[in-house]
Amino acid sequence: MLINYNEYKAMYDAEEKLWWYRVLHEKVLGEIKKKFKDNRQIKILDAGCGTGGLMSFLIKNGYQDIQGFDFSADAVSFCLERNLNVQRIDITNFEEIFVDKTFDVIINNDVVYQFENQIIKKIFTTFQNKLKYEGILISNNNAFQIFYGTHDIAVGGKQRFTLSKFKIILDNIPLKIVHHTYWSLILSPLILAVRLIQQLQLKLNLIDLKNIKSDVNVPTDFVNNMFYQIVKLEEKLIKRGFFGSSLFMVLKRN
Ligand SMILES: C[S@@+](CC[C@H](N)C(=O)[O-])C[C@H]1O[C@@H](n2cnc3c(N)ncnc32)[C@H](O)[C@@H]1O
Repeated sequence: MLINYNEYKAMYDAEEKLWWYRVLHEKVLGEIKKKFKDNRQIKILDAGCGTGGLMSFLIKNGYQDIQGFDFSADAVSFCLERNLNVQRIDITNFEEIFVDKTFDVIINNDVVYQFENQIIKKIFTTFQNKLKYEGILISNNNAFQIFYGTHDIAVGGKQRFTLSKFKIILDNIPLKIVHHTYWSLILSPLILAVRLIQQLQLKLNLIDLKNIKSDVNVPTDFVNNMFYQIVKLEEKLIKRGFFGSSLFMVLKRN
């Protein structure tokens, strides 16, 4: 769970504007369109939907049959402010809630970093069970331990991932990773520099852990737009990024 109400408020305020969310939401939309073309009648689930920015974005793009859940009461109440169909549910046992339901698209962005591998295995097994035969699972997650920083502490992070780590977790689950990319490669040196400084500050006890904050805040319009344009350019140039602080994956039933 995130550290406190202020983190959910920061997420709610930043989701429509911050370059990182904009890129991620467009990546998700791109994969849905690639798979389902103009069909907007599909059933979508956002598992661990946070304050609902992605759900709102998809609704604005014409998708109506979309529901979500999150375990935080704060996150759910922000979603309700956006008039979204969201419930308060724990992802570690959500199969009991959606007993007879299956989905064309399940989205699970940046949630499982807070769990041990056995629990992640259980969660992905449930995703597999809840996916329609031709459905897709989209999952973005924090990548590479070298990017560890104060953000990880603020969001309750237990681990960062790589593709091979995920493949081990998914072993014996009939799910296949059909597309993956790390992002953002071009912004990596900058993000890495910031995180390495934070790691040093943490080692030297220079950071007040009680007042730690996530990286979720919108920079100036100029910087925000520049970062957005850089990552969009990167997407055009590199189909599959090999390094970056996030790992974006699309999975299908095997
Ligand atoms: C970093 S946020 C990501 C939110 C959203 N998916 C997004 O991309 O903006 C992690 C989310 O996981 C939620 N979460 C944590 N533990 C959970 C659990 N056991 N069940 C469901 N959601 C959980 C948190 O409340 C938080 O909203």
